[in-house]
Parts: sequence; structure tokens; C-alpha cells
Amino acid sequence: MDLGMGKVADSYSRACKNRIEAMLDGYIHSLNELASLDTLKNILYGVRVVIDYRNRHLTDFAEVHLENDPKARFFSVSVTRLDIVRDVRRVMRSAGFDEMKFDEDNMTLWIIIKRPSYDQRHELALEASRLERATRQAAANVKRDTLERLRAAVDREYIEEFDIKPTMETIETIYARTVEQITLITIRRRQQILGSFFVFESKEDEQLWEEERTTAHDKLFTIHDIDYNVKTVLPIKSGPKKKVPKPEKVKQIIYVSKPTDFSNGILKDVLRSAMANNAPLKVTGCLICRSDFYLQFLEGPKESIDALYEKILVDKRHTDIKRLRGKNVNGRVFGAWAMKYDFNKNWMWSPDQVKKGVLHKLKADEALAIFEKLAIKDAEKKKLLEEEQAAILAKTKPATKKKAANATAQT
Ligand SMILES: Cc1cc2nc3c(=O)[nH]c(=O)nc-3n(C[C@H](O)[C@H](O)[C@H](O)COP(=O)(O)O)c2cc1C
Repeated sequence: MDLGMGKVADSYSRACKNRIEAMLDGYIHSLNELASLDTLKNILYGVRVVIDYRNRHLTDFAEVHLENDPKARFFSVSVTRLDIVRDVRRVMRSAGFDEMKFDEDNMTLWIIIKRPSYDQRHELALEASRLERATRQAAANVKRDTLERLRAAVDREYIEEFDIKPTMETIETIYARTVEQITLITIRRRQQILGSFFVFESKEDEQLWEEERTTAHDKLFTIHDIDYNVKTVLPIKSGPKKKVPKPEKVKQIIYVSKPTDFSNGILKDVLRSAMANNAPLKVTGCLICRSDFYLQFLEGPKESIDALYEKILVDKRHTDIKRLRGKNVNGRVFGAWAMKYDFNKNWMWSPDQVKKGVLHKLKADEALAIFEKLAIKDAEKKKLLEEEQAAILAKTKPATKKKAANATAQT
């Protein structure tokens, strides 16, 4: 920023003026940044979310993008996974953005930037005042520093005492102009930030603004649109809505029981019944089995589940049956399995804990979480297997590729 003083004669004043002009440029830059859209980029920073039962940084899965046009009153967040959209929406809402649309095809959440509230503007204006105080202090330091160097030059007899008077006067003039410019710059930014809420902080400020403002002050900041209040249209295509299949309504039951006797033969019989009966009844689920407990998850049409559970309740091969969960929900957990079974290698309850009834004390949600975890592990394994197969296929020579593809299709 040019202080508008033209060239100054001596090297001390010149150095002082250059330092101050650079400092004013820094101040304008900071004020510009203050209410800039760039701050939106930090919204997701530091936010942690639970993904696949692990605590992760949201920024690893979502990223804020700003438009090049500073007048665009929207920004977007691209997400890498569908299951985090809810969390991203939550974070945006708590940051004050409640108008958003999700574009599933491009995995992008579009968010409207609303006109800032009075409180938000007030906060920004306070921050501008804080920056102003710091800049005034920095200007005073430059002045003091220049005067000290001038005094040192006199002490070392580089300059005569009577020669420094005009330099000292120029430095005082530079400083006085700087203080004025700082006030004018701050007034301009406060006007933009506060919009219709702006008032001059004092009569002197108002007078200074009337007398000293120039068109340069009007053009100082790149964002002129903080008061922008036109209807924003999000750049999201509004094509025909895709028909999303309705999730299936199913009943879930989870129970725990104690085997009356446990052998491979008994287990095979139980699983044989499950394999044979469940698919036609549209029942799917998972049975965790160990010599000291069964923990079973059943899901399917309500009538099928109720009828099957009646049969299981009177089965003499187990006892101490306790239902942990019975709920109608949307969608299945083990859609691909008539009855997945798990020989409880992964579950760390000791025989003593089981004896003391740890499983009978499980809450409904805890019991469900155990099975959901198993299902996710299963899905991950399946994905890995598919990727491995694809990698093998890619490596296979062209002549044998067809054979390999057929083999995979048959498995
Ligand atoms: C721990 C446990 C789990 C069972 N799970 C199933 C099951 O998922 N599906 C099933 O049809 N039978 C299951 N059974 C067996 C049933 O209690 C019952 O014996 C069986 O459904 C009778 O089948 P049937 O009518 O074809 O003879 C289970 C039994 C036990 C002890």
C-alpha cells in the first residue's frame, strides 16, 4: 500500500516508509483472509468419526472444495465413502450450514453459504479490531526502531545532530499517515463485514472517513460480497430421481443359550436343519457356537422368525435361553447367508466369564454390534478375495485369461 507521500529524501525515512508500506500490505492481507471463504476449509479439520469401529480423521475421507469465483455462495465436500455422509452433514450443520444437497453420482455434498448472522459478523469485526491493535503496535515499533537507529548514527558521529531534524519530522509524518491509513482500512473492512449493522466507532473516525477516503479504499478487499443476498442455485444436476429400492422390513432376534450337550455331530445336525429350512423361509443369520454357549442372530419375515424361534425355544439340545433382542428393522445384516456359523475363535470370553453369565447380561445393542462386526469382517474378506482374484486374472496370459474367468465364474 502506497502511503501517498511520494519520494522521501533521506535513507532513514525511506527505509521506515518501505517497512511500513509492507506492513500495511500484510494487514490488508490478514483482513482479507479474516472473512474469506478459505476459513471454510478448516471446518473438517480435527473432527474424528467412528468408521468400521475405528476412530478416524474425517479429513481422510472428505475434503472441502471452494469455488474460484469469490461470489459463489456455495462450496462442496467430496466424500470417499457413502457411510460418512451423515457425519459430514452433522459437522456442517453444527458449523451453521444447514442447506445442503448430496449428489450421489459424484459423491459430492453441495452446501449453501448463508448470509452471516449478526453474531458471526460481530465476531469477525472483533477479530478485525484485534488485528488493528496489533498493526498499530507494529507501526509504533517501526517508528521507534528508526528513531533509535538515527540516534545511534548521531552518537557514532555519522550524522550531525542539527541534520537529523528534518528526518525526524518526516518519520513523524510517516507515522501519523500510517495511523490514519490503519483507521481507514479498518473502517472499510468493518463496513463490509457488518453490512447494515455498521456504525462508526467515534465521531473522529467518521470525520476522517469523510475527508480522507479514496476510491483505493473501496477496492482494497477482494471479497465484496459478504452481504450478498441473492438466491443461490446449487450446481447439482436435477435429473430424474433414481428409484432407490426400498429396504426390506425384517424381524431380528438375538438370543443366547447353553448347550445341553456339545459335539460335532450335534452341531452338524443343527446346522443341517438351518441350511435346509432357512432359505425357503427367507431366514438368514449367524450362529456363534462354543461348547459352553450358543449366540444366534436370526433375521427374516416376522412370521418366519416367530415360528422358527418357537421351535428353537423347545429344542432340547440347549437350555437357559434368553432373548437379548427382538426388533423389526429395515434391511438385513447377513443377507448372503442362510446361517453363517462361527466357532468362536475370535470372541474372547473366557469359560469363567461365560459361566458367570456375561452373555446373558449383554444389552440388545451390544449383542447386535457383535454380529454387525462379524458381518463387516466377512464383507471385507470377500472384497479382498475378489481383489486377489482380479489381480491374478490381470496377470494371467491372454490365452489363459478366458479359462481363468470361467473358473472364477463357476466358484
Ligand atoms: C442353537 C440352535 C440353533 C438352531 N438354529 C436353527 C435355524 O437357524 N434354523 C432351523 O430351521 N433350525 C434351527 N435349529 C433347530 C430347531 O430347533 C429345530 O430342531 C429345527 O428347526 C427342526 O427342523 P425340522 O422341522 O425340519 O425337523 C436350531 C437349534 C439349536 C439348538
